[in-house]
Amino acid sequence: MSIVKRIISIATLIIAAIFAVVVIRTFTLQTRQLDIKECKKSDLDFIEISHDSKPIERFQKALRFQTISRQAFDYNRDELKSLVDYILSAFPDLHKSNLVQHEVVANYSLLYTIKGSNSSLTPYLLMAHLDVVPADPSKWEADPFGAEIINNFIYARGTIDFKHGVMGILEALNFYAAQGRQPERGFYVAFGHDEEVGGQDGAKSISDLLWERGVRKLEFIVDEGLTLLNGIIPGMKDQVGLIGTSEKGQAYVELKVEGTPGHSSMPPPESTIGILAAAVHRLERNPPPSMLGYGPETQTFEQLAPYMSLPFRMVMSNLWLFKPVVSWVMSQKPSINAVIRTVSAVTMFNAGIKINVNAPEAIAYVNHRIHPAQTVQEIIDYDRSIINDDRVKIRVIGSMEPHPIAASGDTDFGYQTVKNSIRQVWNNTYVAPGTMIGNTDTKHYLRMSHNVYRFSPTVMFPDDPQRFHGDNERISVKNYEQAVNFYYHLMVNSNKASIEPIHNHGEL
Ligand SMILES: *[C@@H]1O[C@H](CO)[C@@H](O)[C@H](O)[C@H]1NC(C)=O
Ligand SMILES: *[C@@H]1O[C@H](CO)[C@@H](O)[C@H](O)[C@H]1NC(C)=O
Ligand SMILES: *[C@@H]1O[C@H](CO)[C@@H](O)[C@H](O)[C@H]1NC(C)=O
Repeated sequence: MSIVKRIISIATLIIAAIFAVVVIRTFTLQTRQLDIKECKKSDLDFIEISHDSKPIERFQKALRFQTISRQAFDYNRDELKSLVDYILSAFPDLHKSNLVQHEVVANYSLLYTIKGSNSSLTPYLLMAHLDVVPADPSKWEADPFGAEIINNFIYARGTIDFKHGVMGILEALNFYAAQGRQPERGFYVAFGHDEEVGGQDGAKSISDLLWERGVRKLEFIVDEGLTLLNGIIPGMKDQVGLIGTSEKGQAYVELKVEGTPGHSSMPPPESTIGILAAAVHRLERNPPPSMLGYGPETQTFEQLAPYMSLPFRMVMSNLWLFKPVVSWVMSQKPSINAVIRTVSAVTMFNAGIKINVNAPEAIAYVNHRIHPAQTVQEIIDYDRSIINDDRVKIRVIGSMEPHPIAASGDTDFGYQTVKNSIRQVWNNTYVAPGTMIGNTDTKHYLRMSHNVYRFSPTVMFPDDPQRFHGDNERISVKNYEQAVNFYYHLMVNSNKASIEPIHNHGEL
């Protein structure tokens, strides 16, 4: 056999072997999704919420308070105070219950403590926030603080972010407390009042209070985050629920070039502006590498692969082979690109003082959102190597490391409990871990648990993500009912020492 023939036959063998692995993985990769009995309206433990029910009325009232946060420490104190007073009066039985202790923290935040009967079970924490971002009424179809119902949707700022969390948890807790049974596993419910602007007053104070009381460990934490998605993930026809198991980090970086001012009739060969512009250009031309394969997004795609339509299924089941191609494709869409890598946004560029004076300095600001598999230091080093010019001074003016990645294995209690609760309420919806690209109040509680699950019980279709912090934020009455039932099931399912058996709707 000639050497050429031999090479060809070896190459053929290798290709055949790769092909076999690809096919085998495509058709055998499985994820464990326990078959779960879904909720029915006839179940004893189903909380029914119709259009003109008390819970909808309470939700609408809560939405009408203009609890707007504008920037750190700048939030609408009067409205927050009114909302807290309203909550205390709207659930009289809950606030009188012996099982539930409540307190107002830092004037406008709320903390509920529900003691467990079994002190060997570590308590968990449910979080939400009372504040909202501003809204421009001229762009809305309805008054952003009117909470009007139009075609079965309640329109208001805060419907998604995140008053359905606040009121959903309260309705569930109210139902729970009404049964008068102490849970075995204790839990806390914390509503911060300035989450949208960093939570320095609200969540931080609650966290400090728990810490002072000796709380060092929480079994898990559930806060707002990723949602149920329909028609948003390429290749997935069915609804998918994503649980955020990490949050990207941040770095605010200042780039500065200093020169000597002088008359523009005798300019230096390179201006401060030119040097900085070149540096910024290099940063934009060289984005940090794709981290696909190193963070929670790998789990998202691998766990959903078995349910994807065929070309996607084959590709996602075999990231070991297709990673470079998949990374390239994903990089083309900003919303997906943000999931697979650290992104660098050049947000400000200031230079020059007069049209006939050489600019004495030029300054640009870059906001990095850091992938969970990288660190602030790695990204600063990366910037330095790409800019590769000592005349550009690099200074970090603020940063936060990406959050640790929460456990999401088959035997991890918190993850599986959230997942099973989702699958009970949204009948057997596929659930997978994901990366949260924004930040919430969870940073204030990380010292008590790394098992933070970021999930909002919101059902989203392709035109919904833009309503988030945008115009015409809304939630359907049915979705609100699901949210309340989700939190109730989460409370019941968390009340056990082990993942199985799962609560089966036969009892309260
Ligand atoms: C809470 O109210 C008290 C009394 O009005 C005030 O001194 C304090 O600064 C307030 N705290 C916050 C976090 O707003
Ligand atoms: C408390 O929970 C532990 C599991 O962590 C269990 O072994 C024990 O039996 C429980 N105690 C009671 C009184 O139920
Ligand atoms: C719920 O999901 C199960 C399992 O996927 C399925 O057999 C059943 O028909 C579903 N029920 C409804 C009401 O869709």
